[in-house]
Amino acid sequence: MLAVPVQAQIIIAHRGASGERPEHTLAAYELAIEQGADYIEPDLVPTKDGVLVARHENEISGTTDIALRPEFASRKATKTIDGKEVTGWFTEDFTLAELLTLRARERLPEVRPQNVKFDGLYPVPTFAEVAALAKAKKVGIYPELKHPAYFSSIGMDTPDLLLAALRQEGLDGADAQVFIQCFEVGPLKRMRALTPLKLVQLIAAGGGPADVPGKRYADMMSDAGLRDVATYADAVGIDMALLGDDPNQAAATVARAKAAGLAVHVWTLRRENRFLPVAFRRGSDPDAPGDFAGAWRVMSFVGVDGVFTDNPGEVP
Ligand code: G3P
Ligand code: CA
Repeated sequence: MLAVPVQAQIIIAHRGASGERPEHTLAAYELAIEQGADYIEPDLVPTKDGVLVARHENEISGTTDIALRPEFASRKATKTIDGKEVTGWFTEDFTLAELLTLRARERLPEVRPQNVKFDGLYPVPTFAEVAALAKAKKVGIYPELKHPAYFSSIGMDTPDLLLAALRQEGLDGADAQVFIQCFEVGPLKRMRALTPLKLVQLIAAGGGPADVPGKRYADMMSDAGLRDVATYADAVGIDMALLGDDPNQAAATVARAKAAGLAVHVWTLRRENRFLPVAFRRGSDPDAPGDFAGAWRVMSFVGVDGVFTDNPGEVP
């Protein structure tokens, strides 16, 4: 264990307490709040009638029972999303009333078999429901816009939908406990002019933003890249892998981002060995819990301001 005090870093419940309940359900968010999450995170995609709902992808066969519903079989489709061909059922092809008839399922039944007993219990929540829950329980909300360039290409303006929904909930003032995150650049730049809410540029370990061909996430992590991000965002949300295995090196990376004027949030800490950095795995079962607390303490040591986790109940 590191001999350093655990500094205050916000606990961001990644899709809710998704290590213990099917992700993106009110049950997952409620449990996360009980467990002490500071923020709850919904990924957002729109319905056919323009309502944002909490799902990680617009293709929903992995997290709902839609593939078992004969009345929707004919809506199976193949689409190209951010340059990748995807086959399944897409939120933008269903009205909210239709989506509300579905029930959520555990995304990782083989890794998290203990969660399968919750399959079929919970509907897909709207963003408004998740935001209202956060407001009622006095925690923050950390929405992510998924694939805004794709949705713009089919005539759906998801940044506008998000800002309108936040306004509707009274979560649009500078002091609201809200971070808006996106992997794309254009929507963040546009929202900078429209809202005082905090904006977060997500940075993956590889590739680049879907809306800026040729731009690489690796370049965003250079000093010049970080300074550029700071012109339109308040924080970076970076893949933990970008910090590497050496805590001193990781601390230097975090310090460079902070020197550019950015807060640093990292994703995603999960308790199962398969998802933990190698140094924190325990035993040979990839699905058994590893040293989550040790990994959390390292995030503290390196100075990050927030950590996305599937397991807020495990935070030391
Ligand atoms: O939003 C931070 C992190 O959640 C990004 O990855 O794929 O889990 O949305 P993803
Ligand atoms: Ca996310």
